[in-house]
Formats: sequence, structure tokens, C-alpha cells
Amino acid sequence: MGVAGLGNVGATLVRILQKDGAELNKKLGRQLQVTAVAARSRSRDRGIDISGLEWFDDPVALAKSDSIDLFVELIGGEDGPAFAAVKSALEIGRPVVTANKALLAKHGVLLAKLAEESGAQLGFEAAVAGGIPVIKTLREGLGSARIAKVFGIMNGTCNYILTRMGNEGITFADCLKDAQALGYAEADPTFDVEGFDTAHKLSILATLCFGYEIAPDKMRIEGISRISQHDIQVAADLGYKIKLLGIAERTENGIEQRVHPTFVPKGSAIAGVDGVMNAVALETDHVHELLLAGPGAGGPPTASSVLSDILDIARGTRVPPLGVPSDELLPYREAPARAH
Ligand code: HSE
Repeated sequence: MGVAGLGNVGATLVRILQKDGAELNKKLGRQLQVTAVAARSRSRDRGIDISGLEWFDDPVALAKSDSIDLFVELIGGEDGPAFAAVKSALEIGRPVVTANKALLAKHGVLLAKLAEESGAQLGFEAAVAGGIPVIKTLREGLGSARIAKVFGIMNGTCNYILTRMGNEGITFADCLKDAQALGYAEADPTFDVEGFDTAHKLSILATLCFGYEIAPDKMRIEGISRISQHDIQVAADLGYKIKLLGIAERTENGIEQRVHPTFVPKGSAIAGVDGVMNAVALETDHVHELLLAGPGAGGPPTASSVLSDILDIARGTRVPPLGVPSDELLPYREAPARAH
């Protein structure tokens, strides 16, 4: 396989495969190996040995290269080389695994169509809620259940900041610096703190949950950059914690979707999800409320979800990228936003 992008997640993935590859190959009964990589700098020290791997400066050339049979995109960004490379791979029927939520929020339906047309698999478990298998649950785990609402904490950086502001009284700016140093935050952290990253993830989940093509630019988005210690204290005095939630629900008037800081009652399950953890709650007619919680950002959890898609593809497991064929998606009908 070829891996494009050797940042935190890409380097962790290569490290895991170099370390555990032999054991995985034994379990799988076939050879799973990174043979080629593309990244911006060849010489940067990433703590992995890439000397024996084929090197590509251009991710599109890697995506199209005959030397690989699976393309893993960990570059990031909604357009540019990530889009060009994923599109090129799918067009020639090559399976793709990506962790790129911004790319999928913007071009997910187009890429799903390409994958269906060429018969390629498209895995994106790592794009939403890091290490939590929420995409798998939605695509394969809920049977015929009709989902009424999906909501949750989908940005580890914001949850980390809000948790530390609440527990330790630390300023927003200091918490953000720590989240960046720990490798949780996006390259441009305004994506995290202004709610756009949550909106990207919510739009991917909402499209899978409701069978509509849902774009993040149709969403009301408010982040956490204006939350002060005073707000956190007022919430605590009233018996609440503040969490940044992404919420999408089916209403009589269409799908309502929003991202904003929310008061959640202190004893609730979602209020107990602290630190870099994420949680996604699904309300359905059969299973009522299901809460999936776990680590939502960082190299190892995200690389582990990328690896689970790689293993599914290697085993030949096939599911339509959107859970249903892309031409069965309904035209989106947006409900007017309510005050909260
Ligand atoms: N910056 C993201 C977060 C990374 O903090 O959740 C995982 O998508």
C-alpha cells in the first residue's frame, strides 16, 4: 500500500505496520505492507524508517502508481493534493482509506459516486471521532433502525480545552497551546475552536444517518473561543457543564443541524466525557439511545481506525460508502434553526 502524508497519524500508522505487520499478516493470511510514501519532506525525523520505501514527491503520482494496491490519504485539506489524489485513485478503481473529514464534508458524495462507479472501496472510519468505530456502527451495525437524532462531542481539542478550563481554571489560550503541543489540534486551530471541524464531522454523520446529502455550509456553527471562566462558573453553579456539541435531527420540517456550546446536566453520560475523548449519541426507533465514547484525536487512536479500514479492505469486506448507493440519497430539506 502507499501512504500519502506522514504527519502525526501517517507516521503512527507506518510505525504500527512496521512493528505489528508480521502478526497482522499471520492473522489475515496475506501480506500487509507499506511499500511507498509521499510527504512534503523526505529528511524530517519522524521516528520511523522510510529508507526502504519508494518515495513520491507528488501524492497524485503515488495514488496512480502501479506499485501499490491500496492508497491511504492522510494529507488533510478539503481540496488541493488530497482531493486530486483520492479522486485519481478511485477513478482507476483503487481502494482508498482516508481520515480527511474536511475533504469528505465537501466532496464525500462525489467521491462515493466515483467509488461505486469504479467498484473501489472507500474507507473513512478515522474521519469522525478518532478511535471510535462510529462509521462502522452506522454502516453495518444498526440494521433497519431509523435514526431520529445524532449528537455528540466530536472535537477532542475543544473538549480538552473545556475540561481543563472547568477543572483547573486555566485560560483558554493556555489550554489551546497544550492541545497543539499534544498533537490534537488541527494545523489551523481555528478549525477546532470555531466549530468547523465539528461541523465537518457532523455533516458526514448526518449524511450517513439520514440518507440526505448534507453540507456543512448549511449549518449554524458557533465555536468555543468566546467561552470565559465566568460562563463555566455560571454553568457549574446551575448544575451543568459546557460541551461543544454537534447536533442533527430529523424534524417534521426537514433535518435540523447545528454546532454550538451547550449546557449539559452534570450527571448525564455525555457530561462525563472529559478530556480529549469524543462521544456520539444515536437516537433510533429500535435501540433508543446508544452512546459511543472513546478517544477522539491523536496519532494512535486515529491510526487504529485507519488500520481497521485497511484490514476490512484486505479481507474483502464490502459496504457502500454511504451505507446506501449514492443515487438513493434524498434531496436535502433543511429545517429552520430553532433557538436553543
Ligand atoms: N483536531 C481534531 C480534534 C483531530 O481535536 O478532534 C481529530 O479529528
